Amino acid sequence: MKNLLSTEFAGVKFKNPIVLASGTCGFGREFKDIFDLEKVGGISSKGLTLNPRGGNDGIRIWETPSGMMNSVGLENPGVKGFIEEELDWVNGLDLVNIVNLGGHSIEDYVEGVRLLNEVDLDILELNISCPNVKAGGMNFGVKCDIAGEVIKTIRKICKHKLVVKLSPNAEDIVELAKVCEAEGADGVSLVNTFLALAIDIDNKKAVFDNGYAGLSGPAIKPIALRMVNQVSKAVKIPVMGLGGVTTWEDAVEFIMAGATVVQVGTASFIKPSISLDIIDKMRDYADREKLNNISDIRGII
Ligand code: DOR
Repeated sequence: MKNLLSTEFAGVKFKNPIVLASGTCGFGREFKDIFDLEKVGGISSKGLTLNPRGGNDGIRIWETPSGMMNSVGLENPGVKGFIEEELDWVNGLDLVNIVNLGGHSIEDYVEGVRLLNEVDLDILELNISCPNVKAGGMNFGVKCDIAGEVIKTIRKICKHKLVVKLSPNAEDIVELAKVCEAEGADGVSLVNTFLALAIDIDNKKAVFDNGYAGLSGPAIKPIALRMVNQVSKAVKIPVMGLGGVTTWEDAVEFIMAGATVVQVGTASFIKPSISLDIIDKMRDYADREKLNNISDIRGII
């Protein structure tokens, strides 16, 4: 029987195009007793940094009528901790292992990549778009010249497939994607969360200690979709689309807009196994529409 959903991204084969987005499944193990992880195409790890981080103080998650806000602040065990404690387990799974790496300085990124060069993984997702850390994160992904420096440096040393995760807060996300392509990235993923503000009117202060935080969920979907569409028309490297994907129809829209792979983030917090529903219903759609493969509809918009 033909696999209607199999796809290839920068030479990496996915059994289906659905990936659990960074930050939504830890390193995978958290979900192991909830559903069969091997049914998804891949998982992207919680954002790592060279050294372990405890994350931000104060409120970290805030639900609003228009979406979820987070200011986690890259809580993670550090690259070495991940390699020692988590990597073997996730590499034992039959899925695409994407490792998300953030940084506070170019030196941090370089050192993190050097450590990850020594181990097995499928794709390195370079996170230059975290809105919640003061030094680094999004600072590297807003301006094309700074982002270009980071990507150029990392591309020179990175032995893995390199996907750059882009910020919707970038000055010009299309130009930024072109810079990624010019500097040799194998693909881009977009979008990370939108910098947003929640106010506690009783206490007359911002909800989050850092002031602003990252907005995700259905509210951002139409904007993310537009950005994926613009970027996929502007570059030849493949695109992973994300931002508010909640239903199978959303995933199909992202593929029609030009994404090769679709990441599911916030919706997994509400229903961890939601990706499995998305995959099943997307397969039914492809069958109903008599597609040879879901990629037949990629970029038709
Ligand atoms: O919204 C986000 N929150 N994006 C990231 O890249 C990291 C995460 C965090 O840890 O704050």
